[in-house]
Amino acid sequence: MLYSTENSILQEIILDNLNERNIQLFIKRDDLIDPFVSGNKWRKLKFNVEQTLSQKKEGVLTFGGAFSNHLVATAAACKQAGIKSVGIVRGDELTSDSNETLRKCVEFGMDLEFVSRSKYDLRYDRIYKEELNIQFPNYYQVPEGGANFYGMMGCQEILSEIPIDYDSIFVAQGTTTTSCGLLLGMKEESSLRVVPVLKNYDSISEMRQLLNYSIFDEELTDDLVKKVVVHSESHFGGYAKYTKELLTFIQDFYAKTQVPLDPIYTGKVMITIFEEIEKGNLDNQKIVFIHTGGIQGAKAIQEKEGIKLYV
Ligand SMILES: Cc1ncc(COP(=O)(O)O)c(C=O)c1O
Repeated sequence: MLYSTENSILQEIILDNLNERNIQLFIKRDDLIDPFVSGNKWRKLKFNVEQTLSQKKEGVLTFGGAFSNHLVATAAACKQAGIKSVGIVRGDELTSDSNETLRKCVEFGMDLEFVSRSKYDLRYDRIYKEELNIQFPNYYQVPEGGANFYGMMGCQEILSEIPIDYDSIFVAQGTTTTSCGLLLGMKEESSLRVVPVLKNYDSISEMRQLLNYSIFDEELTDDLVKKVVVHSESHFGGYAKYTKELLTFIQDFYAKTQVPLDPIYTGKVMITIFEEIEKGNLDNQKIVFIHTGGIQGAKAIQEKEGIKLYV
């Protein structure tokens, strides 16, 4: 095992408004796994890296945008595993010195290949993937965001590390890999509350697609998605969009709990939890929030806004 998940404690948050409503809130601190291979990143990479090693491939080839947490995590995990990594990056105007994320990838030994947006749009196309196979022979291809079967199976392991009874699990959603993995391991009577960070995102059909593709069982998929509650209006304008209110919430939450959240994923989930609490929708519940990391990406926002989120 390259990274231990031992650091990922289940931390209880004690606040007055939770007490008043008889709510217990726990955070599964996957953000503490590693500074770069943090949150859901190691969960998604674990079995993919294992496959690369067991198939005796030279390295991992994967895809990402200019600020992709997944690219840095892949570069770091591959370095740790002693294998190579290639990142196909969206945007041929970029260079390996364009930002901190890309610089870190290179520092971890990743070879970056910058492609136009129209080329990048072909990342799921079989012919393009075959072309990449020819260009980078003997590399194990992992889709953008680690969104494949092995990624999902790694995320399923999170729940085996949560030894308490819970009523609701809250998690951020991008590709749905993490939420689908969680869904596979959840208790019968509990619900999975997802916060998609993209606008107009059809969470349920995206989840159905990944689950069906992985487990080939429509009936089981039907049963599983019944446990999902979608908070579809918590995206704050869409991917990588945020408001002053959200940034202030993250600062306040850190001041009260010392738990860092990011404005792109985890902050949007935690503010939703507190809105639901205010509405009385979570009274008497035991809630677990899965901290999926993202703190490395928050650095760029702090620089851009000239603020400190964690003081
Ligand atoms: C910090 C963070 N949280 C949550 C997610 C969403 O996870 P998923 O893409 O598995 O739905 C991502 C994206 O991978 C992420 O970087």
